[in-house]
Amino acid sequence: MSRRDLAVDIGTSYQQGQGVIFDQPTLVAVNDRTGSVVAVGREAWGLAGEQPSEIVAVRPLRRAAIANFELTEQFLRLILRSTGSSRFTRPRVLVCVPSSLTPVERRAVEDAVSSAGARSVTLVEEPLAAAIGAGLPIHDPVGSMVLDVGGGITEIAMLALGGIVLSAAVPVGGLDMDDAIQQYLRRRHDLAIGDSAAEQIKIQVGSAYPTAEVVEAEVRGRELGTGTHVIVTLTSEEIREVLADAVERIVRATRQCLADCPPDLAHDVLETGVFLTGGGALLRGLDMRLARDCEVPVNLTEHPLSTVASGAGRLLDYEPDQRRAFLSAHRPVP
Ligand SMILES: Nc1ncnc2c1ncn2[C@@H]1O[C@H](COP(=O)(O)OP(=O)(O)OP(=O)(O)O)[C@@H](O)[C@H]1O
Ligand SMILES: [Mg+2]
Repeated sequence: MSRRDLAVDIGTSYQQGQGVIFDQPTLVAVNDRTGSVVAVGREAWGLAGEQPSEIVAVRPLRRAAIANFELTEQFLRLILRSTGSSRFTRPRVLVCVPSSLTPVERRAVEDAVSSAGARSVTLVEEPLAAAIGAGLPIHDPVGSMVLDVGGGITEIAMLALGGIVLSAAVPVGGLDMDDAIQQYLRRRHDLAIGDSAAEQIKIQVGSAYPTAEVVEAEVRGRELGTGTHVIVTLTSEEIREVLADAVERIVRATRQCLADCPPDLAHDVLETGVFLTGGGALLRGLDMRLARDCEVPVNLTEHPLSTVASGAGRLLDYEPDQRRAFLSAHRPVP
């Protein structure tokens, strides 16, 4: 691997990289009045949380596709620069994209990475990177199934003999769970909370399966009617109900994918289990819930948030020629 090569998992919520390691929220802080970019990544996260100002936080990606080309490019430019690239040492970049991205959306990712300063861009199917990152025997004649629950998208894929046999994507992820919490608080408690507060509640008390003990979280916010500051106590049971719809969609899609697979491969998964990855995999009890409703064993990968990036990082170890053969051999099989 050349020191200048870079593997990027360009996600709706987070950008992660290997080669040179980085991990940043996919967020850009923009001055609403002038339109100029004030900060990106973690720095933008901090700025945007501050009270009424003209700085707004923008997510340049929506459901893993580029929603704002210019901001995505600026974001990538900063990442490339912070990893030591310059006009003279432009990196070759490997980017993971969901299998569900259209050719036009793929082209936009390639263009954004190129104009951010990459010497060359190679796209990798995310499920493939996830499977490599999870250490699955993808070259063997057995079925391996990965389920990646991200911020904006959930992707399920069956792999065998080095290729993706079947994949499905549902537009649901962690951000939808955060949204559901915000809407619930507004409706039920007349309370407005920010994006990161909603995410915190999900992480603290969110679950997909009944937990042994009921945990509680306190939220502070502004009551919409009166503007006064109030504190509301939320229980894990209450939040499980709020997240039920998003969780149900993930479960249903997984069940469907198992049903659509060639029976032999589905049978393999009964033995080896589904490998659960992506930040959403960390939702308490999601593994138990999937195991119960899909009737398969479910394994959580070791570092769900970085499995895709580390799989792509491992692909960097191939010589470019080998990599090309490897990648073209991994086009989805209809
Ligand atoms: N402990 C946790 N419990 C529940 N959700 C979590 C936890 N930790 C992280 N998440 C959620 O995981 C999501 C981010 O996961 P990930 O980084 O895999 O997504 P992404 O790759 O950026 O998005 P996508 O793949 O959809 O484009 C966020 O919504 C975050 O809130
Ligand atoms: Mg992802």
